[in-house]
Amino acid sequence: MTDWLNRCHFGDCRQVMAAWPTGVADACITDPPYGDTSLEWDRRCEGWMVQVARVLKPAASVWVFGSMRYLATIFNEMTAAGFRYAQDIVWEKQNGSGFHADRFRRVHEHSIQFYRGAWSEVYNAPQYTNDATAKTVRRKARPPHTGHNGAAHYVSEDGGPRLQRSVIYVPNEHGRAVHPTQKPLGILAPLVRTSVPPGGLVIEPFAGSLSTGIAARLLGRQFAACEIDPACEAMQAQRTQQSSFLLEATC
Ligand SMILES: C[S@@+](CC[C@H](N)C(=O)[O-])C[C@H]1O[C@@H](n2cnc3c(N)ncnc32)[C@H](O)[C@@H]1O
Repeated sequence: MTDWLNRCHFGDCRQVMAAWPTGVADACITDPPYGDTSLEWDRRCEGWMVQVARVLKPAASVWVFGSMRYLATIFNEMTAAGFRYAQDIVWEKQNGSGFHADRFRRVHEHSIQFYRGAWSEVYNAPQYTNDATAKTVRRKARPPHTGHNGAAHYVSEDGGPRLQRSVIYVPNEHGRAVHPTQKPLGILAPLVRTSVPPGGLVIEPFAGSLSTGIAARLLGRQFAACEIDPACEAMQAQRTQQSSFLLEATC
């Protein structure tokens, strides 16, 4: 049965995901409500990772976007659900929030990757971009996640591969966003590419305008998503129409 794939299911993700099969997804890439504001759609959803843990394969990873306040609070919940911290990235935007003179203007957001199973069995494609300038680069062989270094090195060529930086600049979608907390496809694309094998399955319990799902389809992956707010259906239709142009423009 594949009729649950490549679409968004409307309802509370904790109930919707309970009907999905066990041990089938390669990764979860999610952007939950952080509970930082009093807005209606920003209510924290406790315990979403319990069903995520069931639907994922035994060796799999979960990328979670969130404010520092939110991410700090879910460490314990992720640990209780059997996940460990793997790494994090920073999404750098061209402009952000914060207008107080006694605070830095905030132009970034975090996403943390958790994993379970042996790190060597979790899908993690080489994280290269093809924009190197020629130089000799020391390269770690893929470590078993205990800090061992390999002795390998390679000489890069102009325009050749280099390791993707963990701070990734992608303009946000002010002016054209259809959802209030819309993530650009350009920040989801590297996570999908590196954490979900071609043809593999990524799940997103908090779809909003369907950013993760659209990035997945454009990159030849499958997805299954949930969203509690029926108003997001129209946003998703609009976003899907814009999507090929947006991915080309932002990756
Ligand atoms: C931070 S937004 C996601 C935005 C999305 N990344 C995008 O690019 O459009 C979180 C979404 O989760 C939805 N949501 C909140 N609680 C939920 C629940 N229990 N189950 C499913 N969706 C929920 C909200 O309605 C909101 O659209």
